[in-house]
Amino acid sequence: MRLYRAKNYEDMSIKAASILAAQIVTDPNSVLGLATGSTPELMYRNLVEWYKKGYLDFSGVSTYNLDEYRGISGTNEQSYYAYMMKNLFSKVNIKEENTHIPDGFQEDTRKVCKEYEDAICQAGGIELQILGIGNNGHIGFNEPSDSFLEDCHCVNLAESTIQANKRFFEKEEDVPKQAYTMGVGTIMRAKKILLLASGKAKADAVEKLLNGPVTPQIPASILRLHPDVTIIADEEALVNVEEMKI
Ligand code: PGA
Repeated sequence: MRLYRAKNYEDMSIKAASILAAQIVTDPNSVLGLATGSTPELMYRNLVEWYKKGYLDFSGVSTYNLDEYRGISGTNEQSYYAYMMKNLFSKVNIKEENTHIPDGFQEDTRKVCKEYEDAICQAGGIELQILGIGNNGHIGFNEPSDSFLEDCHCVNLAESTIQANKRFFEKEEDVPKQAYTMGVGTIMRAKKILLLASGKAKADAVEKLLNGPVTPQIPASILRLHPDVTIIADEEALVNVEEMKI
């Protein structure tokens, strides 16, 4: 596991975009696993800027997003489909048919999850998976629980996640209570993983990820068992991590 300390959110975002850009330059047909949320927003903005300058070509890139709320369609502006369109897909030359997000409006959980898992497998697996981390240590929507769930599945969102995400919705009642997410196994099968963390709210989860036991109570802790993980965290997110312990 490699840990890069970033000065702040801007620095973290430039470093993250650089790693993603290098992946696309070295393999123009990369299969990327993408994340939503506040954390990667500026990383996406940097990539769009570099694309506009002609430094990047997304025409061969395929993407699979980590998760999607269940019960809302892509036209809902809080859907992760809408987020991806707004932050990346509509602004670069990626082919729409090469972008994949679980269909949140499809109610047949087994079908959504099996098809998504199969599609990732048929694409040859994810080469570089981007992750954020929840305040509670979740990755994707794999919430703290008694066991690690392997494949794509439907989850009931933890109360702490609903509280953290209500800032995006008009009313707390509007926050969906369920989501489809890649499983911990899906994430761990990615060849390379890049986890980003910014801000004090993540400090506890980042410290447990780095120094605590590997436990499904902190889903991100499983990453310690992956052979190729890079973490980029800013100073606030690393406030509980002593320099010498890294
Ligand atoms: P955030 O979410 O980027 O909005 O903080 C990260 C996550 O919950 O995984």
